[in-house]
Amino acid sequence: MAIERVKTYIQGFDEIVNGGIPKRNVVLLSGGPGTGKSIFGYQFLYNGLKRGEPGVLVALEEHPVQVRVSMSQFGWDVSEFERDGTFAIVDAFTAGIGEAAKRERYVVRAPDDYMALIDVLREALRETRAVRCVIDSVTTLYITKPAAARGIVLQLKKVLSGMGVTSILISQVSVTERGFGGPGVEHAADGIVRLDLDEIDGELRRSIIVWKMRGTAHSMSRHPLEITDQGIVVHSSKRFTAPRRVALEEVGAGGEGDG
Ligand SMILES: Nc1ncnc2c1ncn2[C@@H]1O[C@H](COP(=O)(O)OP(=O)(O)OP(=O)(O)O)[C@@H](O)[C@H]1O
Ligand SMILES: [Mg+2]
Repeated sequence: MAIERVKTYIQGFDEIVNGGIPKRNVVLLSGGPGTGKSIFGYQFLYNGLKRGEPGVLVALEEHPVQVRVSMSQFGWDVSEFERDGTFAIVDAFTAGIGEAAKRERYVVRAPDDYMALIDVLREALRETRAVRCVIDSVTTLYITKPAAARGIVLQLKKVLSGMGVTSILISQVSVTERGFGGPGVEHAADGIVRLDLDEIDGELRRSIIVWKMRGTAHSMSRHPLEITDQGIVVHSSKRFTAPRRVALEEVGAGGEGDG
């Protein structure tokens, strides 16, 4: 029997995961600063909303007001979906402080307390009947307590997957880090997608690779990726072949025997 998939409707991405993300998967979307993680998350949610699939965004990094502005820059206006109750932003950023925060419907009063966040998240998922969820970023939840990371991600997974939601957990890694956010979360996640920026001949070039995706075959290649005024485009039929920064460093490190 064919598995149920949730399409991102991000040009080229569904092709590299054989038609879409398997339903209920919790996908770690990992990458350095400016690699397009938030944009990918916004696009995943908005593409669902347009097709009648409700969604929730948990904002831990940016003010909800700023999130709406960022989305509208790509023509993704979520206000009508917030009004009709099919989209919600969980404000885990302001702790309810400030005038603008008073207008938010879903506010986590103690963003440090992930159980409090899960309670508000559960309520938002239930009320919107969400089938998609993005958490931007999960790293914020455990940056000061790395030992708790796996437990937090497993707890989130229980709630999200249990409610039938397909989700993207955004994971921040530093520019030089090769991993995806630490062994705890990497194994707990059902999927890992990594976005990269590499400087090649003085130009920054974007790429994407699907490292794992439980429940489906997927492309094993690194693909070029672009961000345009319409959002992210993955070049699914092309391979990103330029030399990798990390690989070059490794060659450099092994060069002692040359002289
Ligand atoms: N309209 C646009 N056209 C082309 N590129 C854009 C556009 N808007 C933003 N970008 C690119 O997207 C980048 C920001 O992407 P995004 O906010 O998704 O990064 P991120 O991975 O979430 O980073 P961080 O970890 O710092 O939050 C900008 O640095 C810029 O290069
Ligand atoms: Mg971001």
